[in-house]
Amino acid sequence: MEVVIVPDAKAGGELIAESIAALWRRKPDALLGVATGSTPIPIYDALTAKVAAGDVDVSRARVCQLDEYVGLPAGHPESYRATVIRQVVEPLGLGADSFIGPDGSAEDVQAACEAYDLALASAGGVDLQILGIGTDGHIGFNEPCSSLASRTRIKTLTEQTRVDNARFFDDDIDQVPHHVITQGIGTILEARHLVLLATGEGKAEAVAQTVEGPVAAVVPASALQLHQHATVVVDEAAASKL
Ligand code: GLP
Repeated sequence: MEVVIVPDAKAGGELIAESIAALWRRKPDALLGVATGSTPIPIYDALTAKVAAGDVDVSRARVCQLDEYVGLPAGHPESYRATVIRQVVEPLGLGADSFIGPDGSAEDVQAACEAYDLALASAGGVDLQILGIGTDGHIGFNEPCSSLASRTRIKTLTEQTRVDNARFFDDDIDQVPHHVITQGIGTILEARHLVLLATGEGKAEAVAQTVEGPVAAVVPASALQLHQHATVVVDEAAASKL
């Protein structure tokens, strides 16, 4: 695992955006796994600026989702599908068919999870997966004690994660779904390159356990230690407990 300490979130976003741009220059149809939350926004902003400047051609680029809420009404602005379209697909000018994600409104959620794992495999696998990290060390929506071999499946959110995400739902925890679909840790580990970005002091403890603690299901992000090409980009604040 490579750890890169950057001065701030903007620098982290620029560094990762450059590595994504380099990937798309080398492999124009590379599949980029995108994460939601506040942390990756500087990556998407920097990438959008590169595309606007003509630094990288994204006409064949593909993106895929990491996770999704279950049961939000179709078109809800906080569904991760809507979020990825707003933050990545539209700003980069990607076509609707360049984007895949799990169906959080499926009647048979288990079948939707299995279908998503198959879709990822038939797309040739994820070339670079962007990850954030929860304050409890979760990646995607793999909460503490998720199996390190898990596949895409339905999960129940912890109270802490629902509290953390209430800010996207008018600060009303009652609006935050209880269930989600997430790529499993085993699924995530199949991506060819994992890039985790963590910024701010609130992530410092989770980062320290991810990088310096034992590999343990209680800190799902520690599974990155098992991957042969994992990069953890942290700002000074998130690195403060290393
Ligand atoms: C959610 C997402 C994760 C994300 C985490 C942290 O739980 N499912 O993918 O990493 O939030 O979000 P933030 O970056 O806003 O702290």
